[in-house]
Amino acid sequence: MKITFRLIISLIVGTAFVVFLFSAIQTRIEEKKLDEDLELRAEVLAKTFKEALEPFLEQTESPVRIKKFIEKFKGRTRLVGIEVYLKDTGFITLPEELAEKKVFEQELSETVEKGKALRRNGQWNAKSIALETMPLEKDGVIAGALGLIHDRTYIVRRINEFRKRTALTFSILALILSLTTLVLIRWSITGPIAKIADWARKARLGETRQIEPAFREKGEIQRLAFEIMHMASSLKAARIDLHEKSQVSDSQDSGWSKEKLKNYLQGKLEGLPLFVISNREPYIHRKRPEGQIECIIPASGVVTALDPVLQATGGMWIAHGSGSADRETVNPEGKILVPPGNPAYLLKRVWLTEEEEKGFYYGFSNEGLWPLCHIAHTRPIFNIQDWEQYQKVNRRFADALLEEAGANSPLILVQDYHFALVPKMIKEMRPDAKIALFWHVPWPNPEAFGICPWQEEILEGMLGSDVIGFHTQFHCNNFLDTVDRFLESRIDWTVFGVNRGGKISYIRPFPISIAFPQNEKATENQNLQEIKKKFRLEGKKIGVGVDRIDYTKGLLERFRSIERTLEKYPQYRGHLIFIELGAPSRILIPGYQHHLQEVEELVSKINARFGQGEYQPILFLKDHHSQSTIHDFYQLADFCLVSSLHDGMNLVAKEFVAAREDEDGVLILSRFTGASQELRSALQINPYDIERVADTVYQALTMLPEERQERMKRMRTLVKEYNVYRWAAEQITELIKAF
Ligand code: G6P
Repeated sequence: MKITFRLIISLIVGTAFVVFLFSAIQTRIEEKKLDEDLELRAEVLAKTFKEALEPFLEQTESPVRIKKFIEKFKGRTRLVGIEVYLKDTGFITLPEELAEKKVFEQELSETVEKGKALRRNGQWNAKSIALETMPLEKDGVIAGALGLIHDRTYIVRRINEFRKRTALTFSILALILSLTTLVLIRWSITGPIAKIADWARKARLGETRQIEPAFREKGEIQRLAFEIMHMASSLKAARIDLHEKSQVSDSQDSGWSKEKLKNYLQGKLEGLPLFVISNREPYIHRKRPEGQIECIIPASGVVTALDPVLQATGGMWIAHGSGSADRETVNPEGKILVPPGNPAYLLKRVWLTEEEEKGFYYGFSNEGLWPLCHIAHTRPIFNIQDWEQYQKVNRRFADALLEEAGANSPLILVQDYHFALVPKMIKEMRPDAKIALFWHVPWPNPEAFGICPWQEEILEGMLGSDVIGFHTQFHCNNFLDTVDRFLESRIDWTVFGVNRGGKISYIRPFPISIAFPQNEKATENQNLQEIKKKFRLEGKKIGVGVDRIDYTKGLLERFRSIERTLEKYPQYRGHLIFIELGAPSRILIPGYQHHLQEVEELVSKINARFGQGEYQPILFLKDHHSQSTIHDFYQLADFCLVSSLHDGMNLVAKEFVAAREDEDGVLILSRFTGASQELRSALQINPYDIERVADTVYQALTMLPEERQERMKRMRTLVKEYNVYRWAAEQITELIKAF
């Protein structure tokens, strides 16, 4: 109300000012025009009088004659008075009282004195009048003066009428303007704002599930509504999240472990079979050149997170059998018990042809969806052949699951962007299946996602899930915005759900984590000494990086920052070694080959520049390193540098923290990773800002032990508490609750 009132008052004052200014000018012009008319007429009449009267002055009885002459004009409406002043005889006037009261005597004397006509407006007989004088001559000498008095009240009247008309026009104008403003403000500002406020209040109290009409407004109000809706939804989500987390923690005492998860899920699952579907398998069997078969654990976020979960719960993991000895190690059904030597669950391998792998894995998944979801300035490539293979392989995995599902409702954890279509495919055949899809990479904003030619199919496929998980709330919001933009559906922001024909998919953040080692104490590790010896690390400051070699990991930026550190802080030349444990990845993709080449060239260039004798500042150890080797390097490092340009979570950061039982070491972490939302005690960087990263490396190298310990302690507490067992428990709880 206040805004409306203020606006209307301002409008009235503004309009009044303009109208009054305008009317004052107009009135002035009008008055001047009327006066000029009158003056012209009076002047003509005065000249006529002068010509008529002057001959009388020659005559002896001039006053009598003049009197007679002017009497002829008695009763004229506008000419209300005539005065003739003769130097010799005085005033002759019509009416008489003019002379008696000596009206305009002074003006007539002045005319005589100056010998010039003059004009004055004034008052007489309570009337507004105009006086026009004229000198009268006799024999070329001024003998007197003539004064004609015209009534000008008609001018005053007209001007007053004009003023009244203007005031009326102004009032009508102000009224119309105020009413229009009132309607406009109510309609497009205060009305929607009131609705938004009402909705926000209801949302705060948890009373609303609907999107109000105000949110369909256009323009700025829509933006405001949209932002408020999101804010309210985030609060709601945070509330739900907190509530659920507290439920999960209440159900067991805090501190999730393998055993606790096992016990917790036994109760929750009630005998339902648990399945994981992912592209990457947790154990790869491959043939060594000498012919022996070795089992390796691939460098993969999915594996790091889910293997401990399945080890705890049992169940079946369905994945692509990509190892060169995979076929030799499975039973006729393509299954094998894993982990080797300590079997806990079944791994079922799905075999792909070269063509399928090329189109599905290298093509659509990693040349299309991967760069689409990561903002790392690599253009996604989409083509129809890859898309066809992607659909085909998704179908094959869905079928592989359906073969195993059995009679009881299966609980299925589908992993990642490789299988966006699988949830819908399974749900169509088994509506009783409980499906959670976890998206391990970021989700882009709707504009970025809009470039995918099969956006609707992808979204519809995903929405076959009952729960869709992302690492962060931000990615959940992006996903809901995307669905809102591209699909016919009803988004329920209050429960963070997508409703399509009555089926709801809940969208939730589940920040993934690792299995934090329980109750381990720092031990003197013989391996560390050997590694130090082997790589000549004795007495050196050591930095470490662990990655799949991928353009999203910011390796070029990382090495440039190390180079800059050596440039800027020369005391570290010869004393700082950065070790990169890089696992070659997706090497059939030209972009990856090119990136690897670039990385190797840069490493050689830096080593050539700062290397001295046997010292090389960067050790680029390109291989599939075992988990224990990686663990050893984590323990040796003074700092770990994670410089991802964009990363859903980045488990390396959490692994480094978990490996530091000695509570030492500094984590330098890109703020474009999901992990940076949780690990606030890390030194956070923008990997593109080489100068600042170099300074941060210096800060890490010179940090006091107490500070290092304090930061590391805090991060370890967090990673220990929010470990992968908790992640799995929260996700499965949510999935069961969705029914
Ligand atoms: C990312 C993906 C994971 C994948 C990993 C390894 O972290 O989110 O799903 O397991 O990369 O990728 P790769 O292509 O080697 O399986």
